[in-house]
Amino acid sequence: MCGIVGAVAARPVSEILLEGLRRLEYRGYDSAGMAVWNGEAIDRRRATGKVQSLADALAEQPLPGSLGIAHTRWATHGKPEERNAHPHMSGPRLAIVHNGIIENFEVLKRELIGKGFEFTSETDTEVVAHLICDQLNSGVELLDAVRNSVTRLEGAFALGVIEQDHPDRLICARQGSPLVVGVGIGENFIASDQLALLQVTDRFIFLDEGDFACLTTDKIQIWDKDAQPVEREIHQYEHGVSAADKGEFKHYMLKEIYEQPTVVKATMEGRIANGRLLEQAFGAGAGEIFDKVKQVQIVACGTSYHAGLVAKYWIEDLVGIPCLVEVASEFRYRKVVLSEGTLFLSVSQSGETADTLAALREIKDKVLASLTVCNVPGSSLVRESDLSLMTNAGPEIGVASTKAFTTQLVGLLLTTLALGRRHGMTEEKEAEIVAALQTLPEKLEEALAMDADIEAMSAAFAEKHHSLFLGRGPLYPVAMEGALKLKEISYIHAESYPAGELKHGPLALVDKDMPVVTVAPKNGMLDKLKANLQEVQARGGELFVFAGDSDNLQPEEGVHVLQVPDVAPILEAIVYTVPLQLLSYYVAVLKGTDVDQPRNLAKSVTVE
Ligand code: G6P
Repeated sequence: MCGIVGAVAARPVSEILLEGLRRLEYRGYDSAGMAVWNGEAIDRRRATGKVQSLADALAEQPLPGSLGIAHTRWATHGKPEERNAHPHMSGPRLAIVHNGIIENFEVLKRELIGKGFEFTSETDTEVVAHLICDQLNSGVELLDAVRNSVTRLEGAFALGVIEQDHPDRLICARQGSPLVVGVGIGENFIASDQLALLQVTDRFIFLDEGDFACLTTDKIQIWDKDAQPVEREIHQYEHGVSAADKGEFKHYMLKEIYEQPTVVKATMEGRIANGRLLEQAFGAGAGEIFDKVKQVQIVACGTSYHAGLVAKYWIEDLVGIPCLVEVASEFRYRKVVLSEGTLFLSVSQSGETADTLAALREIKDKVLASLTVCNVPGSSLVRESDLSLMTNAGPEIGVASTKAFTTQLVGLLLTTLALGRRHGMTEEKEAEIVAALQTLPEKLEEALAMDADIEAMSAAFAEKHHSLFLGRGPLYPVAMEGALKLKEISYIHAESYPAGELKHGPLALVDKDMPVVTVAPKNGMLDKLKANLQEVQARGGELFVFAGDSDNLQPEEGVHVLQVPDVAPILEAIVYTVPLQLLSYYVAVLKGTDVDQPRNLAKSVTVE
């Protein structure tokens, strides 16, 4: 949602903070700000728009100093205006940055106004600054003032605080929103995401829920939610710094699409050997848990939800047990009835999505066990689930998810194998799927070779306002994902349908202005799908077919056919995703939209 970064050092910190914000811009980018202790006072710059606007403001009026906090915002409370941009201050004394939502801010605000505090923004965050200041005014020491204040907050927060009488301290707290401490040598940092700090350190402490910390240049003190001092482990960052750079590509999204052959390999590495899945990859005790699973409940949001929908086809087909899939924002708020032996399976790129995390917390005690298929080690979902399988996609910066999705599919296929073994899947079948998986990187390379043809095809979409995406079986969720990608980055309305549903409504929309994209692999459903395509053709619709068997599907008037590499049926969902990603990318480029940071969206939705 929002991104925060903070530093306490012996050198100037504003460039470090600015670089941190640039790397966090995927979390929100409608305004940004920075506050630094300049040796005499806390000085602040804020600007609406992207981090670059703040950089311009800082170029004109620099912020010298070695203690500071900074923020890039995705507006929740209050419009994206300068007065609502963080850091927020209480008088000249104290500055804070916040990621999350304070649900009881209105009650607190009334109380603080009653005490004479003046509010200059519409944000929920400003109450926190005044609450702390109120404590300080009544003589409470800084650390206690922050601690007492956060105990009054309901909702989610990651906070960074600096105060003029303690220019050697950076204080932070987290509950429900992500926050890491970056451990330096003679300097220390905080940030919403490790990526923000890779230019200064590769050692990180993941704060637990309710943790509270005080950083100086040479010391990191942490207290848990019961105010007890705790030691938290220092983790070494595993991916190379280059993983977060754009390299030769024009956009992160394109770079991440092209990384897929490499990262799916990384997802399989160490998890399969000799034609078998190594189930230790899921964590200690995985085997015992898998033995008892009788049903799977998948919960996720956005693209990750689509990955879950594909997995439903695999699990029910290959494992033969029921698999339910639901979006987290629905699941968490309704009474769910789960049968005995349910494995709760969350799917998430970030591991911090508020609804998915809340669903896990809600259901944890009512299920057999929880497993997360996740891309961020040390994230909340990983820490709070009984088992986890890391997708190893490396940092994904483009807001529209690409490599995270295909690696999730690989992770979910490995999960299917682990469960299948317990439900009568033969060793031969397992070996056949593992062998297919080993061809995946090469098949993805072949799918990427469709790039130029897809770029040429994208022109047909640039002027359109609506589109339909069709698929059948596990390719239906792939069509859903294709439609989501197009909406997200090109702002073209795209709807997806199981092809068999066409005649029950959407056919009424089909005409020459409604391109219909279809994923049509060479499988048992092809003849059915061809019948659906004829329904479209007969209504004058323009068809774009990604076909596995172009011999059987010929281009003709109004029908464009692009041959997708021939793949093992189990890999179809993964490989057919690539041309759809490329299509949305090239349409967005043609339309000139902001591909990596589409309007109104954020990469990691850590608030409701
Ligand atoms: C946001 C992102 C999507 C992502 C979804 C779920 O909406 O823009 O790309 O699929 O959140 O995020 P998660 O990190 O849980 O996969």
